[in-house]
Amino acid sequence: MIDTRLLRQAFGQFATGVTIITTRDGEGRPVGVTASSFNTVSLSPPLVLWSLDRRALSFESFAKARHFAVHVLAAHQRSLSDRFAQASTDKFASLTLEEGFGGVPVIAGVETIFECQTKHLYDGGDHLILVGQVLRLSLPAASPAPLLFCRGRYASIAAEPGAA
Ligand SMILES: Cc1cc2nc3c(=O)[nH]c(=O)nc-3n(C[C@H](O)[C@H](O)[C@H](O)COP(=O)(O)O)c2cc1C
Repeated sequence: MIDTRLLRQAFGQFATGVTIITTRDGEGRPVGVTASSFNTVSLSPPLVLWSLDRRALSFESFAKARHFAVHVLAAHQRSLSDRFAQASTDKFASLTLEEGFGGVPVIAGVETIFECQTKHLYDGGDHLILVGQVLRLSLPAASPAPLLFCRGRYASIAAEPGAA
């Protein structure tokens, strides 16, 4: 048997970026979660994936959603990550929203965005794995430093050894 505490610790050694993933619930209200499980899958067709905790308040909304939008956070957007990592119904207060594919809420000010159609759902144990096909993307004009997450903490890119 794998010790869950050790497993969590070992998983935490894998450094990731941080995203906020949004959709709408059955009543049309915006919902969103902070997710570091996002990853790229395929260029052709363009596919991405992420996994959602079955206990998340937004679980039903994402499991039923036909579209979702992935927002890749920059280093200066840590507070946005914290906000969407809390189980709350008021995560979107004071944010400017735009309309994405399928009416999903797109957060203004986030520069790298993948607007996706839900393609496949897979059982992932205590998580649900969602695979999305990218229908539209937004790229930043200048590349901001990404927000990173490792060992249960935010992190930032260190300059490469030998880099100017
Ligand atoms: C950096 C970071 C990454 C996270 N990644 C995920 C993830 O990939 N999947 C997930 O289900 N929850 C993840 N969480 C936890 C959710 O953001 C958190 O449980 C949130 O409250 C879920 O929102 P909801 O309950 O309103 O749906 C992460 C939290 C943080 C701080």
